[in-house]
Amino acid sequence: MIQIGLLGCGRIGQVHARGIAAQEGARVVAVADAMPAAAQALAAKTSAEVKTAEEIIADPAIDAVVIGTPTDTHYDLIHAAAGAGKAVFCEKPVDLSSDRIRDCVAAVKAANVPFMTAFNRRFDPNFAEIERRLREGEIGEIELITILSRDPAPPPLSYIERSGGLFRDMMIHDFDMARFLLGAEPVRVFATGAALVDPAIGAAGDVDTAAVVLTTAKGQICQISNSRRAAYGYDQRVEIHGVTGMLRAENILENTVEAATSSGFARAPAQHFFLERYEAAYAAEMAHFLSALRDGTEMRPSIEDGLKAQLLADAAAQSLSLGQPVEID
Ligand SMILES: NC(=O)c1ccc[n+]([C@@H]2O[C@H](COP(=O)([O-])OP(=O)(O)OC[C@H]3O[C@@H](n4cnc5c(N)ncnc54)[C@H](O)[C@@H]3O)[C@@H](O)[C@H]2O)c1
Repeated sequence: MIQIGLLGCGRIGQVHARGIAAQEGARVVAVADAMPAAAQALAAKTSAEVKTAEEIIADPAIDAVVIGTPTDTHYDLIHAAAGAGKAVFCEKPVDLSSDRIRDCVAAVKAANVPFMTAFNRRFDPNFAEIERRLREGEIGEIELITILSRDPAPPPLSYIERSGGLFRDMMIHDFDMARFLLGAEPVRVFATGAALVDPAIGAAGDVDTAAVVLTTAKGQICQISNSRRAAYGYDQRVEIHGVTGMLRAENILENTVEAATSSGFARAPAQHFFLERYEAAYAAEMAHFLSALRDGTEMRPSIEDGLKAQLLADAAAQSLSLGQPVEID
């Protein structure tokens, strides 16, 4: 039985507790949260003990930690957990600074512990199916990818101010999806963006609407469209155009009912936000982590994947401020 310590019992910590409970052969044995009430509430649901993060990391009976705390706490927890020889499942982004992520990569390599970066969208059944069919060559060489990713509404300004900006907080998922689907590294990044949803987001130094074009060494193009607003729900689509065809995945709607009247055809809004839309993906990513841990096989996305997505986010932020494309080394 894999014994797991869960660090952070907020929105995503609760999702991962459910993901672990759904798997045989693994159990959350301890939970920690800076807010005692949050830890107690999750402990009651999982029959885990409430401990501090330090106690969990020091406990030799615990095999792995799941880090679902705020991003600015990941660095210290990764270093402590790797130093204690624990396997680590860490929420994205690994950190907001690529230099600090490099330190984490070094700590994980030095300790030689299994590590997974939780880019859940790779485990979405539709996106995973597209990636598999791309690698099988169903549409030949990839020429153009379009990733559309729009939140239903912006988060509170207090969140935006600590988020590291749209590229590092939100588009980071799309940078990972771009690398996942392309199967190649982008070498050039061109970003444009504006605060069209809320001028207060602009006043806080961020954008809420952005488009990025990534280019690979072969000249393949990936365009990413992000907005902090979508009136019709959480908009999550991808389309890949290749030599012999096109593959795409559409939004998942709240239901499949369609009404037809004299004014036209009407369907339900897209599923509201990430907790609903990616429920299956969160379960699948945890299943992958646990089975790779049990079998000693490779975990993907790796910590290096976390770093590479971050470098694209850094380049996009730089491109936006320079108003010109940025080359990636
Ligand atoms: N992959 C995804 O789709 C996804 C979705 C949401 C959040 N996230 C990531 O997950 C992380 C957490 O986000 P969230 O939305 O769950 O936040 P949240 O605020 O809902 O939960 C975080 C919890 O961690 C606790 N906490 C803070 N510092 C702590 C510490 N040092 N030790 C233990 N507990 C501590 C807080 O009290 C809180 O209960 C962030 O890195 C975020 O980027 C990923």
